[in-house]
Amino acid sequence: MPTKIEKDAVSGRDTTGHEWDGIKELNTPLPRWWLYTFYATIVFALVWVVLYPALPIRGATGLTGWTARGAIVGEMAERANQQAPMLDALRAATPQQILADANLRGFALAGGRMAFANNCAGCHGAGGQGAPGGFPSLADDDWVWGGKLEEIRHTIRHGIRNTEDEAARATMMPRFLADGLLKPAQVNDVAEHVLSLSGRAADQAAAARGAAVFAENCASCHGEAGRGNREMGAPDLGDQVWLYGGDKAAVVHSIAYSRAGVMPSWNTRLDPAVVNMLTVYVHALGGGEAE
Ligand code: HEC
Ligand code: HEC
Repeated sequence: MPTKIEKDAVSGRDTTGHEWDGIKELNTPLPRWWLYTFYATIVFALVWVVLYPALPIRGATGLTGWTARGAIVGEMAERANQQAPMLDALRAATPQQILADANLRGFALAGGRMAFANNCAGCHGAGGQGAPGGFPSLADDDWVWGGKLEEIRHTIRHGIRNTEDEAARATMMPRFLADGLLKPAQVNDVAEHVLSLSGRAADQAAAARGAAVFAENCASCHGEAGRGNREMGAPDLGDQVWLYGGDKAAVVHSIAYSRAGVMPSWNTRLDPAVVNMLTVYVHALGGGEAE
């Protein structure tokens, strides 16, 4: 098909020599500047492929040895170096000392927030507000095991009723119905008594009978008036705060089968500096108690 290159009479430019049904095509070359820029990009790409990671050879590093991953590892090492003195200080200090030092405290609160989001929020909620089913709020002043710095740190370090840490907080409520310690009628009565403790509507006669059952079976852990005992991890039954719910069915279930909430221990999973940061962070969530 390419045939005769001619000069176009109207524009005075060459044709490409192609012709379709009498229509001829003008030869319009690319502007020089465009063409040279295009060649330059090709050269640039070739150089780049040789120097930087592009081909799966030499561990895909290119001649310079630079990799994006390597760059990040370097930056992270640098960051860790910068933080090392701070982390050392946080490891060596007691939570009290961290609270007293504005610098350490600020760092601990920021780091504690992140560590909390990564490790604790799944059970205790993003802001430590707790979750139904036995995950207590850490942001209120209602503590099962204690809200002083040392108490909080002990709970975090060793956890609760887990099998991995001998120092875990371990007290367990008996399964009063399941293990035959109380009869169904007694469970009902003592449940009514528990409801009355927090001012909920309760069957007065049953609650009165339940008071005797309570004194005999429950007061040793929950206290005479049911106001709880942190030594035993027995929650206050007289406030409106419930781990497992305060309606009758939930209370009966707690008494009949016990609950035994479990929390893992963290001292083998987290750096002591992080445990200290978490301690200060949880203490500052709203309910921290003075020593
Ligand atoms: C697998 C779920 C789970 C995870 C993860 C978890 N916890 Fe807990 N935590 C619990 C449960 C359940 C309890 C209550 C146990 C009980 O006494 O019945 C609890 C109780 C606590 C308490 C005691 C509260 C009180 O009222 O005395 C503190 C403090 C606490 N958790 C802090 C943390 C921190 C900090 C983290 C993260 C490092 C964390 N928890 C991660 C389940 C969890
Ligand atoms: C050995 C100590 C112990 C004894 C005895 C005991 N409890 Fe408990 N109780 C606990 C602990 C610890 C919890 C915390 C819940 C858990 O196991 O996760 C609890 C939780 C509860 C709860 C759930 C509270 C909530 O916030 O949801 C109720 C209700 C309760 N007990 C009632 C009773 C009654 C009624 C008795 C007597 C019949 C009794 N307990 C005897 C230790 C005890």
